[in-house]
Amino acid sequence: MNDLFLKALRCENHSRPPVWLMRQAGRYMPKYRQLREKYSFLEMCHTPELISKVTRLPIDEFGMDAAILFSDILVIPEAFDRGLRFDEKKGPIIERPIIKINDIESLKTIDVKESLKYVSDGIQLLQDLNVPLIGFSGGPFTVASYMIEGGSSRDLKKTKQWMIREPESFHLLLEKITKSTIDYLNLQIESNVDALQIFDSWANYLSYDHFQEFSLKYLEKILIGIQRKIPTLIFCKGSSLFASEIAKIKPSGISLDAQGDLKKLREDIDRKIAIQGNLDPDVLYGDKETIRRETKKILDKMKGESGFIFNLGHGILPDMTEDSVRILVETVKNYEAN
Ligand code: CP3
Repeated sequence: MNDLFLKALRCENHSRPPVWLMRQAGRYMPKYRQLREKYSFLEMCHTPELISKVTRLPIDEFGMDAAILFSDILVIPEAFDRGLRFDEKKGPIIERPIIKINDIESLKTIDVKESLKYVSDGIQLLQDLNVPLIGFSGGPFTVASYMIEGGSSRDLKKTKQWMIREPESFHLLLEKITKSTIDYLNLQIESNVDALQIFDSWANYLSYDHFQEFSLKYLEKILIGIQRKIPTLIFCKGSSLFASEIAKIKPSGISLDAQGDLKKLREDIDRKIAIQGNLDPDVLYGDKETIRRETKKILDKMKGESGFIFNLGHGILPDMTEDSVRILVETVKNYEAN
């Protein structure tokens, strides 16, 4: 088993940093697109054999040091019975969004062993991987925003209006999502994932104070609820701005967006906490030399650091190429750390 990733999460790695990439299994891969000709995205998420197959695609093709489970953060609203579909143009759509307080009050705790069994079955088919498997969930604020907006949104206007005008019921919604998320992550742990990442992607829509009240507080409840049984990383857009606050809830690692300077952030964040990141994904639109140069800049900056995991500042996009991903991964893997 290649344990570079787990060692780096414990800040005990002394060779080159491990590398994996957010959205590493996705539409930029021709093999993924081939599968999507036969199955819808949700069919793929619901079928253990396809979860296993897609999770392995980037590992087999590029040799990343960790695999991330193929799934989506929106399986939680789906399990809350709010209806989920994916529109080729608009992206995710929640068919029964939260529009009145009673919609929140009547949400029933998810029986994860029943509604999300397909995820644990998928994880069980991945036990022979030779790299660690990362499970995940969304952060409660981000999941709540999809449940209120009914899909992707430019400004999270409905969510923020609700949060500002009706904080009490908004907290109740976050509380309910948090409770089911804890059960869901514990199910993933029981099924044998090696680490977890929580994606509170849209926390960057919050002010500094609101971040603590509506995002961080619930991320901390999750870390306590899973009793820190396995290493857990926190990602959000805005993580380089909020890093010292995130460090206070003591995750194993913080996944940093592309805006922050890794070296400066390393000095501010407790050295027991690993950091992950933070190449600007748009660099993957560059030519070979540009990708190598920008990747090496980060590697040089972090040379000799034991708790560092190479990743992007956000996910790979569908119009990026396999060649650019291959060059990035090779550059990290061929790097002489000493
Ligand atoms: O990183 C990985 O490869 C693991 C799998 C993964 C997916 N989504 C697969 C996916 C993970 C970790 C996610 C998380 C996720 N999903 C987030 C948080 C991370 C982030 O990117 O900020 C969010 C906000 C979602 C919700 C979601 N799912 C959106 C906004 C979309 C994109 C819509 C679009 O058409 O691009 C999805 C769809 C999705 N999730 C795809 C994949 C591979 C593409 C679906 C397809 O095949 O059509």
